[in-house]
Amino acid sequence: MFYLNGLFNLPIVVDFVLQVAWLRVDTQTILTIATHVITKNHRIAVTHSGHRAWSLHIRETRKTDSGWYMCQVNTDPMSSITGFLEVVVPPDILDYPTSTDMVVREGSNVTLRCAATGTPEPTVTWRREAGGTISLSNWQAGSIVGPELEITRITRLHMGPYLCIASNGVPPTVSKRILLTVHFQPMVWIENQLVGGYEGQTVTLECRSEAHPSPITYWTKPSNETIANDENYKVETIPKGLYEILMKLVIKSVRAQDFGTFRCVATNSLGETDGKIKLYRIDKPPTTRRPGSRRESKKTWKSDHNHEKKAVGMKDDPMLKGDDIGDEQIEFQSATASSSFHRHLFINFGITTMTVILASGLST
Ligand SMILES: *[C@@H]1O[C@H](CO)[C@@H](O)[C@H](O)[C@H]1NC(C)=O
Ligand SMILES: *[C@@H]1O[C@H](CO)[C@@H](O)[C@H](O)[C@H]1NC(C)=O
Repeated sequence: MFYLNGLFNLPIVVDFVLQVAWLRVDTQTILTIATHVITKNHRIAVTHSGHRAWSLHIRETRKTDSGWYMCQVNTDPMSSITGFLEVVVPPDILDYPTSTDMVVREGSNVTLRCAATGTPEPTVTWRREAGGTISLSNWQAGSIVGPELEITRITRLHMGPYLCIASNGVPPTVSKRILLTVHFQPMVWIENQLVGGYEGQTVTLECRSEAHPSPITYWTKPSNETIANDENYKVETIPKGLYEILMKLVIKSVRAQDFGTFRCVATNSLGETDGKIKLYRIDKPPTTRRPGSRRESKKTWKSDHNHEKKAVGMKDDPMLKGDDIGDEQIEFQSATASSSFHRHLFINFGITTMTVILASGLST
């Protein structure tokens, strides 16, 4: 029950000393006569200033005090005046039948309910706690008005906390938080399904997965064995949001048995999904070959000897630029036949390695 301290005042001016009475119209009850309180309602009082102005006071006003009140003066004929008292009540949200937190399957239909009371009747508005829009079947809005929020064919994008806010112009406005959880089977995305690598190289394989509840994830080797973190492999799972994760497998140093198909697997209570990544063999970049094993390297070695005396200028050695780099680039492209991103990586890698070889060549 809500109480509001209030004052109800219908001043009436009388010329002679006359009896003034206050009545409740709807119940036909006499409340006060002159300075006497007739009703048993202890919240009622009467005051006057002189005999010209009379006031009826109601303490701890309740909603039931709303109604018509009359002030009567016993003149002949009787004179009276009536007034209406409206007691306003700030909004409240009822626990029942207001929805509680819900867990639903993706694709199902859901109705969130919010039952609010108050006087005047409150308006119910729905919002997402995190902001953003609520998507309904054929439209979307930042807020939706009405006691029911009906979402058809729910998706994972609907997941999250919702607020139902009840307001009627009488403060305070109240709200209730309802958490909507959407369950769905894991999904797996792979950007590079073919990855080239050479023995001894460190290679990282990546899968993105969406699932809720959070999945159990693992990787399998080409031999179909499950991979554990050890000296050869490092498995990482990085959360990327409410239901997204990035699965990473680092092959620390590729071995012959690693060429083949790796699988990333995500499992939850609704199912299991996997993705396949094939690691194929490429030639080792030539810069890591031993000097003299190839034409380009011989050339490099020779030009290196030509500059043997100026060891100080090693890093600026002209052989790091121009024709020799061109040779390297062609070599890498044919070796990797991969995306431009990989090509770029390999070129940089090649240059870095070249510097190292030159340094060791010069020091001998
Ligand atoms: C969900 O609502 C849509 C539209 O009202 C209806 O076509 C569909 O059959 C409902 N789906 C379920 C699972 O009740
Ligand atoms: C691994 O499993 C797949 C099917 O799940 C099968 O085709 C393949 O032959 C298996 N590989 C090995 C090495 O057992």
